[in-house]
Amino acid sequence: MRGWLLAVLAAGLSAQDIPKAWDPHAVAGRLTMERPSPKFISADDYYKIPERVIYKTYPVYRPDKEPQNYIPFLSSQNPEIVFNPDAIKSEFDWLQAGEAVFNSAADATSLTPDDLRNPEVWKRFHLQVDEEGALPGWRYVIRKRAKIELAPTLCGSCHEGVANGVTYAGVPGKWRASALYATDLRRRLNSIRDREAAERRELDRQFGLFSVPWQSPEPAAWMAQLAIGELWSAYDAVRVGTAVRPGASLLFPPIIPDLIGVQERTLLGATGWFRHESLADLIRFAVLESGFDEGAPPPAERLSDAQAYALALFLYSLKAPKNPNRLDKFAKKGQAIFEREGCASCHPGPRYTTGKAIPPDGDDPRLTVRTRRGTGLFRIPSLRNIWYREPLEHNGMLTTIEDWFDPVRFRDDYSPRPVKGHAFGMKLSYEERQALAAYLRTL
Ligand code: HEC
Ligand code: HEC
Repeated sequence: MRGWLLAVLAAGLSAQDIPKAWDPHAVAGRLTMERPSPKFISADDYYKIPERVIYKTYPVYRPDKEPQNYIPFLSSQNPEIVFNPDAIKSEFDWLQAGEAVFNSAADATSLTPDDLRNPEVWKRFHLQVDEEGALPGWRYVIRKRAKIELAPTLCGSCHEGVANGVTYAGVPGKWRASALYATDLRRRLNSIRDREAAERRELDRQFGLFSVPWQSPEPAAWMAQLAIGELWSAYDAVRVGTAVRPGASLLFPPIIPDLIGVQERTLLGATGWFRHESLADLIRFAVLESGFDEGAPPPAERLSDAQAYALALFLYSLKAPKNPNRLDKFAKKGQAIFEREGCASCHPGPRYTTGKAIPPDGDDPRLTVRTRRGTGLFRIPSLRNIWYREPLEHNGMLTTIEDWFDPVRFRDDYSPRPVKGHAFGMKLSYEERQALAAYLRTL
């Protein structure tokens, strides 16, 4: 257990110590970009929304790994509520409660347990299981007797992934969550009688997610001309390892960051748009991430103060999987290259980042210039735990570490688009590039 957490908990928790999960003025004060005042939901309206009910969830398996009679077993289960603040007594209880929130079921998907018997579905959404055959980011949930729902999880749908064959909270997910989101929306619209009006409403809602009203020309203007089919294609084209967020663009969605080590980062988001200096800041960022960001209609349920608090404590407690890569002779060669090339001026150990954000220099600047999350800067990412974090770059444009240091990415015909920034270590031989990557994988 980390010292600070013990200190927080030893202080003796009472309800008064738990920060308010939602405080729009405090959140506005954490934004680092220059912009007009944000239009967040008011605290009054937030607290009028019913609290999230956190039900027990069950793992989803690939059909060949599923325990015998699993689905019949699930249908005989009763709904069970697993988050109960009165039952939380110890620090361990808080972390477990936070984990339950992190992995709680979000809205049910239109996919059914039967759809998961179809290998095409696995291919389409790029679903991959861990060693036990369980699917990260997904759970079955029983919210009503005898009704099994399949649901991506509240946070783990993007922030749970596999390393060393094992599922870890915090490791970025690698399945196509945005394609599923579009599939679910499309199916819902298809079932509405006045479909044309519903499609228009949906396109308006989408425009609101990404609009930057204080910029001219409006960066989301292209969406006003969109046919609904083009909207689905845009979601389908979102790259594995990145995710669409309100306030970022649908065309250049940000990389899903590693949440392990988040307690050491003062700037959150690829553009460093949110200042994180305390647990209360992380709590409010988590509320934004739970569906309350500006421009999105509020969800039907909200995190309670205790739920958001438990969630933030859980994020602070995440530990990295054991790194299987050793600092052998070849990796040491890479270390010498890292030192020789001056990488440490921006990526100094032990965190391998200065923690600052800097202006783009040749990188595609659109995420940080033409979106509501634009600060004009990109955060210098930590290089810790990069071994399980590929793809890389703020838009996830580079599939491997080796690709960062391969000059072909500068070429105009590089697919899907050239990546011209970060011109460091670009004059290395093939072998040096491999050695540098081998070193980075040990960090
Ligand atoms: C649909 C995918 C998705 C879901 C669901 C999601 N996140 Fe995120 N999260 C992201 C992406 C993408 C970013 C990067 C945003 C950016 O760069 O501006 C991010 C950023 C973060 C960060 C900042 C980390 C950093 O170093 O920048 C935290 C903390 C976080 N999310 C926590 C959560 C929590 C807690 C939940 C559940 C309440 C959640 N997220 C749900 C995709 C998701
Ligand atoms: C002037 C500061 C600076 C220097 C010097 C620098 N970097 Fe970076 N590095 C950055 C920034 C900023 C990013 C994020 C760029 C982006 O996402 O567009 C980055 C990203 C990376 C990434 C991708 C990380 C991820 O999570 O996506 C790797 C790997 C990396 N740098 C390695 C190196 C190495 C190796 C060197 C030396 C050869 C180096 N950097 C030199 C600023 C720097």
